[in-house]
Amino acid sequence: MAYNLLKGKRGIISGALDENSIAWKVAQRAFEEGASIVLTNAPIAMRMGKINELAAQTNSKVILADATSIEDLTKLVNETTDVLGGKIDFMLHSIGMSPNIRKGKAYGDLDYNFFQKTLDVSALSFHKMLHVADKQDALNDYASVVALTYVAAQRVFPDYTDMAQAKSMLESIARSYGQHLGASKKVRINTVSQSPTMTTAGNGIEGFDVLYNFADKMSPLGNATADDCADYCITLFSDLTRKVTMQNLFHDGGFSNVGISYDVIEQFQKGANS
Ligand SMILES: NC(=O)c1ccc[n+]([C@@H]2O[C@H](COP(=O)([O-])OP(=O)(O)OC[C@H]3O[C@@H](n4cnc5c(N)ncnc54)[C@H](O)[C@@H]3O)[C@@H](O)[C@H]2O)c1
Repeated sequence: MAYNLLKGKRGIISGALDENSIAWKVAQRAFEEGASIVLTNAPIAMRMGKINELAAQTNSKVILADATSIEDLTKLVNETTDVLGGKIDFMLHSIGMSPNIRKGKAYGDLDYNFFQKTLDVSALSFHKMLHVADKQDALNDYASVVALTYVAAQRVFPDYTDMAQAKSMLESIARSYGQHLGASKKVRINTVSQSPTMTTAGNGIEGFDVLYNFADKMSPLGNATADDCADYCITLFSDLTRKVTMQNLFHDGGFSNVGISYDVIEQFQKGANS
């Protein structure tokens, strides 16, 4: 159901690769809620993904940008305000990639060049996006910026390796830039800490199906889906959350506050009795 929550708003949505991407769902929901959007992704996503399909569905333009490049981001922000006809009301950072995870490197055996790439793509890119939008004076008052994160920023999940550090940095950037742009321009900046979700990035993590099922059994409400996440992001982009900023907001069916659940206890009892 649509509520016109983003009627007349303009936004940038990064990270939609295919129909499983969380950003794909956010773009569809933003469009349904009346927003005009620009989609962006790294040039390589054009070859690997289906972003043009989403652009046709949502009547939006695709502007390619490597999120680690200030030059690309400046072009993205300037072209977006031209194409959409005004300043930006919301932005989604939905970008993550670890070459260490891709190459199966264990935490005790990380490649440091890869590590820097992980931080640059998955965390610093958020700083750069905010920096460019600020310097170009492209954000409207009370604009809302959301980045997607994971509970591995607070708790250890061994196969998440250097992405855990990237997510901690991402959440820290939301707080620091949240203060900075809140005071100067009333801009809201938050991170949404999402349940494990079956996407290209999610499935790239070793043992992801176990992690996914474990989180589902631990969470009283079950895992939040990509569609659920999109709904939540829409509320954060809307005017209904104008005083929410500098927060890491768990969107995980309750997982982050559970020690153990009866479902998991039962699973262990079955194992012990077999
Ligand atoms: N899938 C999960 O379980 C899960 C859980 C919590 C948080 N998240 C986070 O959600 C976000 C979106 O991931 P997803 O799960 O939808 O997977 P996804 O693979 O669909 O999206 C990741 C996106 O990052 C883009 N990207 C990579 N390098 C880039 C670069 N240099 N410049 C611009 N874009 C680049 C990719 O092209 C892709 O579209 C990520 O930040 C991820 O860490 C995912």
